[in-house]
Amino acid sequence: MRVLLASSEVHPFSKTGGLADMSAGLAKALGRAGHQVRVVTPLYRGILQRFPEIRREDWRFDLPLGAGRIQAGLYSIQLRDNLVVSFVEQAFFYDRNGYYMDHNADYPDNDARFIFFSKCVAHLARYLPAAPEIVHVHDWQAALVPALISHEKRAGWGRGERPPATCLTIHNLAYQGMFPGTSFGLTDLPREYFTPDRLEFFGLLNCLKAGIVFADAITTVSPRYAREILTEEYGCSLDGILRKRAARLRGILNGADDEDWNPGTDAYLERHFTASRPAGKTANKLALQREMGLAQENGIPLFATISRLAGQKGMDIQLAALEEMLNANMQFVLLGAGENAFEHGYRALSARFPGKAAIRFGYNEALAHRIEAGCDFYIMPSRFEPSGLNQMYSLRYGAIPIVRATGGLDDSVVDLTEDGRRANGIKFYDYSPRPLAKAIRKALALYECPGLLAQYRRNAMKADFSWNRTIREYLEVYETAKNAASRP
Ligand code: ADP
Ligand code: GLC
Repeated sequence: MRVLLASSEVHPFSKTGGLADMSAGLAKALGRAGHQVRVVTPLYRGILQRFPEIRREDWRFDLPLGAGRIQAGLYSIQLRDNLVVSFVEQAFFYDRNGYYMDHNADYPDNDARFIFFSKCVAHLARYLPAAPEIVHVHDWQAALVPALISHEKRAGWGRGERPPATCLTIHNLAYQGMFPGTSFGLTDLPREYFTPDRLEFFGLLNCLKAGIVFADAITTVSPRYAREILTEEYGCSLDGILRKRAARLRGILNGADDEDWNPGTDAYLERHFTASRPAGKTANKLALQREMGLAQENGIPLFATISRLAGQKGMDIQLAALEEMLNANMQFVLLGAGENAFEHGYRALSARFPGKAAIRFGYNEALAHRIEAGCDFYIMPSRFEPSGLNQMYSLRYGAIPIVRATGGLDDSVVDLTEDGRRANGIKFYDYSPRPLAKAIRKALALYECPGLLAQYRRNAMKADFSWNRTIREYLEVYETAKNAASRP
C-alpha cells in the first residue's frame, strides 16, 4: 500500500514526546513490511545541521493561506528502500527555537503554522507522482488534512486517479488545536464548513474536531483509551462527536521500537542484558546510582520516572506519595521537563531527602535509556494515558512498572491479581496519593522476594510490543478506510 503519513514530530529528527516515537516506529514497520511510505513533517531548526544527508527536492509549494500566499520548499531523506521522510521548509514558520512554544508560551501563530502544514500535506496527497492510497495524519497539527482532502474531492479530484482515503490517529485528546473563530479564514474552506457539526467548537476553530468529522477512519493509541474518550470524564468535550463517529473509531496499542529500545544492543548502556541473561542489569543500576550521586548499593530498591512534567502525568499524586514513601529504604530518580510548579515540587523533595531523591531537569535521551536500564521499578501514575511508551520500555528493560490502571497503561501492564502467570507490574486504581503509596509499598515487599521479582522481570522482558502486531491492525483500518472512502 502507498501511505502518506503526516506528523509534527518524527524521531530522530524531532521529538517532545511519544508522538515522535510512534510515527517513526509505524513508518519503519510499514516500510519493513513492504509498503511504500512517505512521512511529512516540518523542517524545524537544527534538523539539516544534524542530518546533512537530507537533500532539497525539486518541489515548490505556493499555497493560499487566508488573504495571502505562502511559499515553501521540500527536503527529503530516503531511510530505507521504501521509506522516505520529507520536510516542509518554511523558515518563518518552522525555523524557531521551539516546535510549538518558546519560554513556556505557545507561539501566537500556531494556527497559521499548522494550517499551512496541513495544506502542504493535502497538496502532496494530490500531486505526488506516486499518489498515496492512504493519508494517515496524527494529532491536531495535521488533523485538518481530511477536511481539506474531502473538500477537494467534492470539487473534483482530477487526475483520473482514485483520491486517497484518510485516517486520523488521536494521540492525546487533551490537545485539540483550538483557535479563535477568525482563524477559520486561514483554511480557505467555504463558510459552510464553520458550523457546530463540522469545524466549529463554540465559536472557535477546532482542528482535531475537523479530523474526527472528516476522516474515513479514526484510531487512538490503545483499546481502553478508545472506550474512555467516549465518556464525559475523558472526552475533553469531544465525547459527543466521538460517540457519533464511534463506528469509525478503533483503539490500537502502540508498538515499541525494538531497534532503539533493546537492552541487548542499546549503545547507551553500561552493560547489555536480555531476558535469558539478565545479570547485566545490576551493572546498569550501580552505574546509574553513581551518575545520579546516590549510594551505590544493589540492595536498595531504585524507583524512577521519565516524563513531561504535566498534569496528565500524575505528578501531583506522585510528589505527595513520595513525600511519604521516601522515609523507607528506597531511592528515586526523576528525569523530566515541563511545568514550573512541578519542577519546584521535585526540587523541594530532593532537598528534603538528599541522597535518596535525585532529580534532573531537561531533555536527555541517553540518560532516559540508562534510567530504564538501571531502575528496579518505574512509576507512571497518569491521570489519563492514551498509550504510554515508557511503561513498555520499562517492561523490556526489566523495570517493573507501577501504573495507574488507565488507557494504554491498563492495556499493557498485567497485575498479579489479573493473571499470576503473566504478572509483570503493579496497578492502582483511584487517582490519589494513598493508593500510589500503597503500590510503592507493594513494590518494596516484592523486592524482598528475589524469586518472585525475578519471575516478574522475566515476564516483563518477554512481553511482546513488537510493531509487527500493531501494523497488522493499522492495515485492517486502512482497508476499512478505503472501503468507506469509495462509498459516495
Ligand atoms: P508522552 O508522549 O505523553 O509524553 P509517552 O510515554 O508516550 O508519553 O512518551 C514519552 C517519550 O518521551 C518517551 O520516549 C520518553 O523516554 C521520552 N521523554 C519524556 N521526557 C523525557 C526527558 N526529559 N528526556 C528524555 N526523554 C524523555
Ligand atoms: C501522546 C500520549 C501518549 C502516547 C503518545 C504516542 O503523547 O500522551 O500516551 O504514548 O502520544 O502515541
